[in-house]
Amino acid sequence: MEYANYIAHCLEIARRGEYYVAPNPMVGAVLVDAGGTILAEGWHEKYGEAHAEVNCFRHFEVSKSRDLDLATCTLFVSLEPCSHYGKTPPCAKLIIEKGVGRVVVGMLDPNPLVAGKGVQMLRDAGIEVIIGVLEEQCRELNKRFLCLHENHRPYVILKWAQTSDGFIDIKRTSGSPIKISTPKTKEIVHRMRAENMAIMVGTNTVLLDNPRLLNTHWEGRNPIRVTVDRYNRIPSNARILSDESKTIVYRNRTDWPYILTDLASRNIHSILVEGGTTLLNHILATRLWDEIHVEVAPELTIGDGVPAPAIDLPATYETVDGHLLFTKLNNFAKK
Ligand SMILES: NC(=O)c1ccc[n+]([C@@H]2O[C@H](COP(=O)([O-])OP(=O)(O)OC[C@H]3O[C@@H](n4cnc5c(N)ncnc54)[C@H](OP(=O)(O)O)[C@@H]3O)[C@@H](O)[C@H]2O)c1
Repeated sequence: MEYANYIAHCLEIARRGEYYVAPNPMVGAVLVDAGGTILAEGWHEKYGEAHAEVNCFRHFEVSKSRDLDLATCTLFVSLEPCSHYGKTPPCAKLIIEKGVGRVVVGMLDPNPLVAGKGVQMLRDAGIEVIIGVLEEQCRELNKRFLCLHENHRPYVILKWAQTSDGFIDIKRTSGSPIKISTPKTKEIVHRMRAENMAIMVGTNTVLLDNPRLLNTHWEGRNPIRVTVDRYNRIPSNARILSDESKTIVYRNRTDWPYILTDLASRNIHSILVEGGTTLLNHILATRLWDEIHVEVAPELTIGDGVPAPAIDLPATYETVDGHLLFTKLNNFAKK
């Protein structure tokens, strides 16, 4: 039996919960018989609802194999089964009750409420447990959840769009921003908004652009909006304060380490920072970020404007609608 193939399948089905489970991790589970046939599968579909293992057993119980003795079967799960009573009862307890013979776990859960206790419960019950299959892929899938529990801060993604001569906007005190994105790159940004729990811009961007910061072009939830307002410059009718989503405004302390610590205390596992340059430069100086995504419009030059943050762009990029999309990972961030 090739364990990696089944964990790969768990990761594939786990992704179906992508826009709906935060701040929980995405998890997939498959139940396999002694001959290697998948009997049932399940994934964590929605925050607060059943975990992957529970859904997998539910599907098994209505399948034609439901009378099979599970002692001969293996349960594959991409993340360690939970051992605590949270919104749902412990999955490790359920697995023991079902009498599964062997459990293969992609990676241990760093959440201190679990952290090896799920595996211990299974082993104490005499179940064979194998840990660490496709661990790198399991970590990549849940990098936001892992960052919160291992680094005690949200996963940070910085994103901006710039002209080919390196500006993010014209210099202005009123009027509209220059349009840099295309319909397709705008859709990519909204997907990023759906992937991350929070979104942030600086005070000047709120005042000049009056953005809603919602996810209107992709499935899933709206992110929690975050901004800073040291001198009460943001008017109460600003669109970022609308009741379309929650908003957190930092007033007394607006330094990045403080904001990250506070967001982590609210169980927010990821934040997308969309600008402007002053805020982005402040964050870059702290080195507390994980990814940068830059869109460059190669045909657009404006000669003068608000300069984009000065970073070295990687040599490789993706092309969408003729625009260049660069992704840079932070080698300083503790992983
Ligand atoms: N092309 C793009 O992707 C993109 C995206 C977003 C924005 N923009 C453009 O960017 C321009 C605004 O950028 P900007 O650089 O002037 O302003 P910004 O980054 O949006 O806001 C900066 C202001 O936020 C306040 N602030 C409070 N705490 C801060 C902290 N810890 N770090 C940094 N700032 C803090 C400061 O104002 P106080 O001194 O009043 O506290 C600061 O001047 C607009 O033209 C907007 O259209 C472009």
